Amino acid sequence: MEIIKTANLTKMFGDFTANDKINMTVNAGEIKAIVGENGAGKTTLMNMLYGLLKPTTGEIYIKENKISFDSPTDAMSCGIGMVHQHFKLVPSLAVYENVLLGTEIEKKHKIGKKSFSLKIIDEKQEIKEVEELIEKYQFQINATDLIKNISVGARQKVEILKMLYRNVEILIFDEPTAVLTPQEIETFFVTLRELKKQGKTIILITHKLQEVMEVSDSVTVIKQGKVIGDMLTKNTSSKALARLMVGRDVLLKVDKKYRNYSKKPVVYKVENLTTINADNIKVVNNVSFEIHEGEIVGIAGVEGNGQSELLDLLTGILKATSGKVYLKGKEVSNFWPKKLRESKIAIIPEDRYAQGLCLDMLICENMIAGYHGNKEICKYGLISQKKMLDKLDCLIEDYDIRVSEKGGKISSLSGGNAQKIIIAREFDSDPDMLVAAQPTRGVDIGAIEYIHNSILGLQNTGKSILLVSSELSEIMNLSDRILVMFKGEIIGEVDAKNATREEIGYLMAGIRKENDDE
Ligand SMILES: Nc1ncnc2c1ncn2[C@@H]1O[C@H](COP(=O)(O)OP(=O)(O)OP(=O)(O)O)[C@@H](O)[C@H]1O
Ligand SMILES: [Mg+2]
Repeated sequence: MEIIKTANLTKMFGDFTANDKINMTVNAGEIKAIVGENGAGKTTLMNMLYGLLKPTTGEIYIKENKISFDSPTDAMSCGIGMVHQHFKLVPSLAVYENVLLGTEIEKKHKIGKKSFSLKIIDEKQEIKEVEELIEKYQFQINATDLIKNISVGARQKVEILKMLYRNVEILIFDEPTAVLTPQEIETFFVTLRELKKQGKTIILITHKLQEVMEVSDSVTVIKQGKVIGDMLTKNTSSKALARLMVGRDVLLKVDKKYRNYSKKPVVYKVENLTTINADNIKVVNNVSFEIHEGEIVGIAGVEGNGQSELLDLLTGILKATSGKVYLKGKEVSNFWPKKLRESKIAIIPEDRYAQGLCLDMLICENMIAGYHGNKEICKYGLISQKKMLDKLDCLIEDYDIRVSEKGGKISSLSGGNAQKIIIAREFDSDPDMLVAAQPTRGVDIGAIEYIHNSILGLQNTGKSILLVSSELSEIMNLSDRILVMFKGEIIGEVDAKNATREEIGYLMAGIRKENDDE
């Protein structure tokens, strides 16, 4: 049975057509994957189904009834819920409070045997109902834990609970696995299958084609706002999907040449770097490493083992309690980002919207942000508009960034294209050293291939690179040496050329090689 059907659904932003006469059907009880390049129009389509955007023309049918949503509340009451990539939870409230936000259960206030008309929240009942739901879906979380104390994977489950509590039948996930660790992704798939078993319909947007193959029943491919393919998953393959999406074969295996860098000069040196968090725990503990000229050093680890804090230390966001950092022999410890950039360290931050871009500023302004004082653009303290726009044109062309309107703000860009703005800006700065965190998070496969080749290209010009990523294959394909972090420390180092996933996996779990223990 068709549960959702769109008929010639179209969305324009000004003159730009983001969705162009989309005809798509989703069957009840299936897992439907939606794939397509960055900027293809996937999120736009979902936002229309969820009542966040109004279609310009065309219709949406739910169970054969034509609907028109004014807000997500309308969509919810029609049985449609959506989990966004950036979660919308209140960190200081408990799991159950977040689930019930806006639909609190009330009871009459009682003193002795008398009950008054004054109503208070029935916390006991709220916890009970949320616990029942947790039990039904076998989510391993605690109803009374505070959101700020639980992992990203657990937070995603709270988002799912929010929808289940409101009895939605259709759950939309926009790139749900982009922020999850490999272990959390496995659990997420278990959840998806459980939801399906309970009769729910699922729409899943993802850039990871192996996920599509593993979990979906059917897949719709979107390109430049149009549906260009619609098939049962069992009748296709990752390779065929990639070819359809990008228009050519995508080789995710990079051509990497391994060299011995140990005799090359040391460009970047981190010495006994340590920092403590608000609870006095050493989140980065005595970390030391060197990166030689032209070398790529990767940092692997299960998320939450100090990688983010180490990155914050190296990029001027967090202060070290002890330890030093040197670039080409010059100390750069605790430099703030502007000074780091002046010292020729380029930064691709972990969280693109919080640290890499300003959503409310223009695309061209973001393209020079951090480098806006450079002589080529700025004279006597004044930025040349013409030069700024010329630069934007150049980089949009070079990095194949898809923008609907060049004069627009960053908020008008799709997630992957926003990431490309940072990549273009930082690579263009001609750095001596690049600190790259999760450089391909949320970007499409064509762009991953491009970014990987660009990183190797930068390496070939003799630049040194520190790569931190939760994608183990990315770390393994690009690095020369891999350091593994565990509980704030570097627990081991492996030579990337001969490393196995298993060997790194053990280190990520905190198990050292036997001869290290002697
Ligand atoms: N509010 C907006 N104003 C102007 N243009 C927009 C707006 N929202 C989206 N767009 C444009 O519509 C196109 C489709 O964007 P959308 O976010 O749907 O892409 P996507 O397929 O989800 O991409 P990604 O994989 O990068 O998330 C993009 O070119 C984007 O720049
Ligand atoms: Mg999107």
